[in-house]
Amino acid sequence: MALDLGAWSAAHLQQVERALDGWVCASAPVSLEHGAPAELIAAMRYAVLDGGKRLRPLLVLAAWESVSAELVDWAGAGASDRGPYEAALRAACAVELIHAYSLVHDDMPCMDNDVLRRGKPTVHVKFGEAGALLAGDALQALAFELLTPEAGMPAAQQARLCSLLARAAGSAGMAGGQAIDLASVGVALTEDQLRQMHRLKTGALLQASVMMGAALGEISDAAQRGLQDYGAAIGLAFQVVDDILDVTADSVTLGKTAGKDASHDKPTYVSVLGLERSAAYAQKLLAQALLALRQSGLHQTQTLQGLAAMVVNRVS
Ligand code: IPE
Ligand code: IPE
Ligand code: MG
Ligand code: MG
Ligand code: MG
Repeated sequence: MALDLGAWSAAHLQQVERALDGWVCASAPVSLEHGAPAELIAAMRYAVLDGGKRLRPLLVLAAWESVSAELVDWAGAGASDRGPYEAALRAACAVELIHAYSLVHDDMPCMDNDVLRRGKPTVHVKFGEAGALLAGDALQALAFELLTPEAGMPAAQQARLCSLLARAAGSAGMAGGQAIDLASVGVALTEDQLRQMHRLKTGALLQASVMMGAALGEISDAAQRGLQDYGAAIGLAFQVVDDILDVTADSVTLGKTAGKDASHDKPTYVSVLGLERSAAYAQKLLAQALLALRQSGLHQTQTLQGLAAMVVNRVS
């Protein structure tokens, strides 16, 4: 049966939104003696809810499905066998929390100094710089709290998921890539240096999304390698396309300020290769991602194929 990616995504997105709404401190007591202060929780919820494509959670869920022995009954998810689905949702939401935190900090005046994100004023505009800093800190901590429930997930699985996410978020991943990004303003990077920066600042978390989904199942070495290569290709492609859209799309469509890279003198795929060659490179990475899936030996990869195409052909 042909995959309806729209229906698949809609069903899972509904679950992801509901889970995020519940997990991002919805019911936490708001007074100081009982829990986190109301303003911090409000900033965290503002950063995470109502917006975002949620691509990373979808990748976690799609990768999990691809390694599951049987097709996941996503239409009925939440009704019957809640256990494995809840673990997958925890992993999916944990990655999204790290991503949301990275956006909050990325937009701050000391980094990209942006005022628009997901169609709304950025978190520091709304809650102040200290509020944004703390919201990012707390979202990062919450991500790891989600991965370590007292029951329902084996300890080894928790450890594996935490390790994948921590590595992708840290100095060898997103944070490291962001440090390179900031140090590269006004610098003419080589294509190799640019690729390395993009792999770290953006690719690592997208690849981790795939590998976290995979870590929820049992897979062969070939499948592990295939998914790793798939994740690396789409992770890099994602930032190549982000660089392209910064030039070709408008702020309303993007929900963030267009044209920021050139105005901040950032080296990007567009500044290094030009628009046409950047677009061709994104298509080449898509082909690499699809090849990696074919070589993985996995049978259920339609959703991952569709998400790869979405990464490369998206308009926002
Ligand atoms: C934007 O990511 C930041 C990058 C890593 C390029 P997304 O384009 O996935 O942002 P949201 O989550 O949809 O807002
Ligand atoms: C950000 O890259 C990558 C992150 C780790 C958040 P950009 O700075 O290009 O992301 P946007 O364009 O602001 O979303
Ligand atoms: Mg940035
Ligand atoms: Mg930015
Ligand atoms: Mg960008």
